Amino acid sequence: MENSTAALTQADRRHQVHSLHHPVDATDATIYASGQGITIRDVEGRDYIDGLSGLWNVSIGHGRPELADTAAAQMKTLAYFSGYSGSSTIPSIALAERLVALAPGMAAVFFTSGGAEANESAFKTARYYWKVQGRPEKIKIIARIHGYHGVTLQAMSATGIAPYWKMFEPRVPGFLHIQTCYPYRFRGARPGETIGQAAARELEEAILREGPDTVAAFIGEPIHGAGGVIYPTDDYWPLIREICDRHHVLLIADEIITGFGRTGRQWGLDHWSVQPDILSFAKGVTSGYLPLGGTLMTQAIKDAIDSVDPVNRWMHGYTNSGHPVCCAVALKNLEIMEREGLVQRSAQMGDILFRALHDALGSHPNAGDIRGGKGLLAAVEFVEDRATRKNFPAERQIGARLQAEMKKRGVVTRMRPAAGDDPAPGDEILFAPPLIMTEHEIHRMVGVLRAAVETVLGAG
Ligand SMILES: Cc1ncc(COP(=O)(O)O)c(C=O)c1O
Repeated sequence: MENSTAALTQADRRHQVHSLHHPVDATDATIYASGQGITIRDVEGRDYIDGLSGLWNVSIGHGRPELADTAAAQMKTLAYFSGYSGSSTIPSIALAERLVALAPGMAAVFFTSGGAEANESAFKTARYYWKVQGRPEKIKIIARIHGYHGVTLQAMSATGIAPYWKMFEPRVPGFLHIQTCYPYRFRGARPGETIGQAAARELEEAILREGPDTVAAFIGEPIHGAGGVIYPTDDYWPLIREICDRHHVLLIADEIITGFGRTGRQWGLDHWSVQPDILSFAKGVTSGYLPLGGTLMTQAIKDAIDSVDPVNRWMHGYTNSGHPVCCAVALKNLEIMEREGLVQRSAQMGDILFRALHDALGSHPNAGDIRGGKGLLAAVEFVEDRATRKNFPAERQIGARLQAEMKKRGVVTRMRPAAGDDPAPGDEILFAPPLIMTEHEIHRMVGVLRAAVETVLGAG
């Protein structure tokens, strides 16, 4: 096969349907060939700073031979065997032990291949738990607008970003959405209420409206990822925990982006000393070197699963649950993260990134909201009018144009267009670079954003 972008793209178009596929994207497709550290290289030999760690997952950076060697060694020893009940493998046993040690309050894990499967498993775990408690009518899941939880049918129904639903509806019944704690855009706070209090009140109102006896769980990302890197106020998550406890609703933390040091702590909810009942993880657990995810759960839930009569057993599982090669790679990845102090490093570099974004764009008239400060997870929300927070018209495609100008200058990252949901966010540029990024590289990346903004929106 010829290795030019044009030839590869043509072949790609013929035979592959991509995530979020549309053929228009093939006109400007990039074929990536290799990666080293924070840099990825396309087939034409152009280098780019990876501003989003692949898809929020390549935390330790690209091109780590230790992970390749670990995978090869495990494949030579035992590439695969079933993890179905009554059968297990050494790497999955070791990884389960390691994860439970890393996650205080969690007692056991069910392994999956990725994030959506982890959330699917979380929803099924919540229903299962309530059935074991003799409360089979507790089945509903409350999620949030702007939440992203994956796109299998149930995960999509929890995801609160409308464009993901449109061509696949109807959604699975029993999933509903409330506003999230979005300090820049929240509507309906009462006088004297913080945004965190108002957003938490929405949860309590929804539980009461639906009937606490029908609600199984609430799910949220500690800090939103794909929905715009939205940071909550500090009072939000402790209030959410209290409300869930008050109404016997399980709290599912979707830590698929925020886990494993992305926010400068091991888990996102650690910032607020909140413990969930169920914790979904994926992405950073292997730094994306192999697919792996999972659902951590408390002792109470594990006890429920262990307590039933065999006819009511946990009839849930995947061929790849506890895959020995993926688990071995995850263990090595977590070892590297610990050895290199990457959780602490994420916290330090996150402060630098947040300050650099403020220095570069704090006074720009179109930089409406700059979010960051908890690890290497940040965003800038661009608006047409900073005073009224009015968005640019969607036709101007500000986000897409900023993204294209950044790519021309050697930085790839993700944007979210001003569209779709209510309240509609502005055009957002999102950052989640590898946790090994240096201060110098952060300034380079932010300098590229500044140059792109000057080209698309003017110097301000
Ligand atoms: C917070 C969150 N949850 C769930 C998912 C879904 O994970 P996957 O794409 O592995 O199914 C993602 C993916 O981006 C995510 O960011």
